[in-house]
Amino acid sequence: MDDLDRLQDELLARIDGAADPAALEALRIAALGRGGRITAMMKDIGSLDAAQRRAAGQALNAVKNAVADALAARKSAFDAAALDAALVIDTIDVTLPPRPESAGRIHPISQTIDEMLAIFCEMGFTVAEGPDIETDFNNFTALNIPPEHPARQEHDTFYLPSKPDGSRLVLRTHTSPVQIRTMQETAPPIRIVVPGRTFRADSDATHSPMFHQIEGLVVDETTHMGHLKGCLVEFCRAFFGIDDLPSRFRPSYFPFTEPSAEMDIGCSRAGGGLVIGKGAEWLEILGCGMVNPRVLENCGIDSTRYQGFAFGLGIERAAMLKYGIPDLRTFYESDLRWLRHYGFAALDVPTLAAGL
Ligand code: PHE
Repeated sequence: MDDLDRLQDELLARIDGAADPAALEALRIAALGRGGRITAMMKDIGSLDAAQRRAAGQALNAVKNAVADALAARKSAFDAAALDAALVIDTIDVTLPPRPESAGRIHPISQTIDEMLAIFCEMGFTVAEGPDIETDFNNFTALNIPPEHPARQEHDTFYLPSKPDGSRLVLRTHTSPVQIRTMQETAPPIRIVVPGRTFRADSDATHSPMFHQIEGLVVDETTHMGHLKGCLVEFCRAFFGIDDLPSRFRPSYFPFTEPSAEMDIGCSRAGGGLVIGKGAEWLEILGCGMVNPRVLENCGIDSTRYQGFAFGLGIERAAMLKYGIPDLRTFYESDLRWLRHYGFAALDVPTLAAGL
């Protein structure tokens, strides 16, 4: 009995004095582990006769429990101390001033796309996208531009090498193939806008081989030219922030719309610079029209039941007009001085409510 008391006192004292969790664990193994002292004594009890075994077993169990409790208590003390230490290190001083805003700027093309999407999404459009590499069918044929059609020449297309079956993929020359993809996949009513990259083999001060367009498509059962005009007039007024912006629609031609039109907005060149708004002159801003029934039929949509309108406009051009950026090529030069000047702060997310 004395031996047991002494053993217990000794173990409790050492547990109490353990310097760290590793030392505590070593003590646990030495006492209660497989080859530990208490474990060995437990085994020895088996060799006692029945009368002694019971009393010795109870006494040893009491020691074992006391040691296990002491180990657990010491361990939770270590855990609590570790947590306290971590909390001290992790402290956040909420009274510090905010970090200065990052020096990075939003590119005017990204900003302009965000502004346009804010306007169209408010009107009830959703955003669709398509791949830069398109089939000849989606980029041309389904849009009522068959292989021998002269409009193909006007597009200065980048063709990929022909496949064994003679077919060629193209870098899309406009965002209009996403009209086809959408009409093939979804039943009307359709109301989408499609921002994205487009490609034409053309390069000078006002043309870049890669540029951006935004496409719009509405298909429903009672859609008419008035909807097209109302939508686009409203869009241009919101985009340029001019409530009385004059506009006009001129007859035009696109194989995939009938009738087709180009929309002009008012501007003035008096005094040298170009100013959007009331003035003596007109500026072409976008192409549009009622979806050609043949395009609807090419996509499996019943053209006796559904009509639609579509439009497409160049994003760089709109950004140049709105923000007074004189040269198209500067958009792609990644000149940090230019970006600092024409770029937008990262947190200036365009919304109609806040003004564009
Ligand atoms: N896809 C035409 C272009 O790139 C623009 C357009 C789109 C015209 C939709 C009418 C309707 O010039």
